[in-house]
Amino acid sequence: MNKKTASLSLEGVKDSIDLPILGGSIGPDVIDVGGLTAKGYFTFDPGFMSTASCESRITYIDGDKGVLLHRGYPIEQLAEKSDYLETCYLLLNGELPDPAQKAEFENDIRYHTMVHEKLCEFFKGFPINAHPMAIMVGVVGALSAFYHDSLDIMKEEDRRISAHRLIAKMPTIAAMCYKHAIGQPFMYPRNDFGYAENFLHMMFSTPCEAPKVSPILAKAMDTIFLLHADHEQNASTSTVRLAGSTGANPFACVSAGIAALWGPAHGGANEAVLNMLDEIGDESRIEEFIKRAKDKNDPFRLMGFGHRVYKNFDPRAKVMRKICDEVLTELGVENDPLFRIARRLEKIALEDEYFIERKLYPNVDFYSGIILKAIGIPASMFTVIFAVGRTPGWISHWNEMISNPYKIGRPRQLYTGHARRDYPGT
Ligand code: SDX
Repeated sequence: MNKKTASLSLEGVKDSIDLPILGGSIGPDVIDVGGLTAKGYFTFDPGFMSTASCESRITYIDGDKGVLLHRGYPIEQLAEKSDYLETCYLLLNGELPDPAQKAEFENDIRYHTMVHEKLCEFFKGFPINAHPMAIMVGVVGALSAFYHDSLDIMKEEDRRISAHRLIAKMPTIAAMCYKHAIGQPFMYPRNDFGYAENFLHMMFSTPCEAPKVSPILAKAMDTIFLLHADHEQNASTSTVRLAGSTGANPFACVSAGIAALWGPAHGGANEAVLNMLDEIGDESRIEEFIKRAKDKNDPFRLMGFGHRVYKNFDPRAKVMRKICDEVLTELGVENDPLFRIARRLEKIALEDEYFIERKLYPNVDFYSGIILKAIGIPASMFTVIFAVGRTPGWISHWNEMISNPYKIGRPRQLYTGHARRDYPGT
């Protein structure tokens, strides 16, 4: 791993500081700055723009080339040839499952989809209009009350079953959030349904009639989960890793990840995109909003555009746009006004110098909301869908950290406050 050395020379300091340069399998080399503290320095990198927080083998992103690989497999190929649970297995275990392993994994997930009946009572305390992400933070965190004493995170088997429980129960809890909001009874998962099919069943079926789920919509839902499955060290995954580095319960760590995902700069952007498209309302108003997005004095940003890493098209956005076309056509709403506005907005922005210069392209959140709305999912549930999809990523990174030597995450700071001073009268 150790390749070369960086030599840091400091003004007024006689000897330069040699820092090892480490190389990975692909992507940028890193400068190991661990030795700086002993020399009386910290690095300073607010927002971690240039910081590699860990070593990982799970997902690789090349932002300039618009590349996203899960355990080496391109996201475009996984979206076309794989499915969500197979991708969950790949993220967790590092290799694609053989048919027997896939069947066993699907079965294991299937028999963990129900939640403890006592967990249902948590919903009674939330106001009807509670944001579903507020409920998700609370109820997923509450899972740690049901799986704590029997959980030793140093045991591989305990980590495995925790990962399976989370992947299995997230759709059930997500659908419960929706049923809570509309005053309908919770629907139990069915063991004869597929993963995404079960989710749509729990969302839209009622006890009054036999469940019927469109296979087209179930496939679209499965691919949407897959496209959200993992994304390297993004804000919510870094939150799960930091919480996990203290040895905290993994269910509590994922709850912290859900909280971080909720922000409109992160996973909350998909809901914000739909609200933005609704606010634009008509193609004639697009220029007005593009102008606002470019105005430094206006806090408005083009939601679903831009990315910390991708300075080219987000490969997930390309697949999402294709699914959007397919689902809207399938549903006979290809002339959906929001989709028309989104396509026009994308075209205008991509020809505008401000966006070109800043390499701002549509990201994963730009089209997902339009598809989810077409499926019948309300905007308030969009980030919940993102959280369900991202669960295998969160728990794979948590597992990768815990199953290798790790240290508690504890950044330092550049202190610019008062030096020591005495209390008046001391
Ligand atoms: C996700 O990290 C991940 O991997 C996240 C994610 C995942 O899968 O986990 O990919 C999911 O979170 C996607 C991003 C969803 N967020 C949005 O769509 C919200 C809108 N986008 C922006 O808020 C912004 O682009 C960020 C937060 C995504 C990235 O911000 P950065 O990297 O901190 O960049 P920046 O804010 O410094 O912007 C650089 C410039 C600035 O202009 P200048 O000061 O240089 O003149 O670009 C401008 C910004 O003002 N800019 C935008 C813009 N995004 C950036 N201007 C208008 N509209 C935008 N959307």
